[in-house]
Amino acid sequence: MHGAERTKLVAQSLMGAADWIEKVVKEEKIECEFMRVPAYLYPHATGESSMPTTAKSALKKELDASVKAGLTGTKWVDLGGGPEVGGITECLEFQGSAEFHPLMYLEGLAAAVEKHGGKIYEGTKAWKAEDDKVETEDGKVVRCKAHVMATNSPCNHNLAVHSRQMPYRSYVVGLLVPRDAVKRAMYWDTAEPYHYTRLENWDDNNMLLIVGGEDHKTGSLWPYDPYAKQVPGINRYAKPEKYARSRWTSAGATVLRWNGQVMEPADMLWLHGLNPVVPDPNSYIITGDSGQGMTGGTIGGMVVADLILGRKNPYADVYSPSRPPPIGTALEIAEEGAIVAASFAERALPKVTLSYDMDADSGAIVQKGLEKVALYTDESKKQHAFSAICPHLGCLVHWNSTEKTFDCPCHGSHFDRYGKVINGPAKADLKPIEDW
Ligand code: FES
Repeated sequence: MHGAERTKLVAQSLMGAADWIEKVVKEEKIECEFMRVPAYLYPHATGESSMPTTAKSALKKELDASVKAGLTGTKWVDLGGGPEVGGITECLEFQGSAEFHPLMYLEGLAAAVEKHGGKIYEGTKAWKAEDDKVETEDGKVVRCKAHVMATNSPCNHNLAVHSRQMPYRSYVVGLLVPRDAVKRAMYWDTAEPYHYTRLENWDDNNMLLIVGGEDHKTGSLWPYDPYAKQVPGINRYAKPEKYARSRWTSAGATVLRWNGQVMEPADMLWLHGLNPVVPDPNSYIITGDSGQGMTGGTIGGMVVADLILGRKNPYADVYSPSRPPPIGTALEIAEEGAIVAASFAERALPKVTLSYDMDADSGAIVQKGLEKVALYTDESKKQHAFSAICPHLGCLVHWNSTEKTFDCPCHGSHFDRYGKVINGPAKADLKPIEDW
């Protein structure tokens, strides 16, 4: 999709980000369990995906491409199929991947920023950012030479960004395994949707086995993604847990479950640089994390800092949000457009609502007169009603029964059960319906 030279730059930037993190961890003495580990890409087994089992030849192609991109340490290996490697036999090994605890790292990094004179203000909502100023929700103005929207999805209305990336939910379970029962490494498979496995310290006797995947498009706009379909009572964690237990047979109790949102750019590369199209030379974005936010965020920081300071950066063109989309991405971009169109059609079509009676602690989108209503019935059966129109660009939100949120299928905004925005790009809450 991007050609050999560009792909080489991508590989270099990924390795450069890991090296940068390692250097900062050492210099700033950040306790975050940083270590270098091997990473394994292995073929999924029949039954682990709707895709046919990936043949060895596909992995061989991946190996050739990887070496061509400059990752000369990539090797074809056989792990022997034991329980400590999840039954994996032949696979690709990528050497020297960086592993660390992201929150411990961020805490250390934030302390280092402050130590070097930076100031961090949390819990302050930026309402408007343009030219040389950022306005906060309560009307205060911060003057600046440059502002960077480094959010999951930029909190703006720029369709040049929003039409080239799609929001996905990813599900994770944490299971206890005895120390040394699983080989310390990173693992991911070729399934569609794919699975990933990591290890983390838990207590003296156990490690936490983190297994995730089963990603689907945010907002349940079926049939665009059959995995996204909301079925009442659906347990999104059942599949990753079943997968984890079938592969990692030493797994014991499940102690954690969570999910998160990743933005997938149509051409699979992050968007780091000047906000495209908008003629504002001070406005930058960092987005499109593809589930690799720690690496991408680091590269974004390097690229955007250089751009602001007028320095040359070798990766600025590769990740420029204004780069022309490669020809191979037309389908993905059209699909994002189709989701928006379908959402607007759904908004316009009247919905048959026979009753507003609902189970306690559940939500739904219902019709009242001409209006679509996001309705939540709480534990005491009291109902809370909001306009179901997303305040970002007007798509129709959907109820997410796993998280008990209202999610927007268009660009990934989330609102809690009481309509409060908890993930952009929307900045405002869902509008309450007072006379419900
Ligand atoms: S997130 Fe863009 S319309 Fe809802």
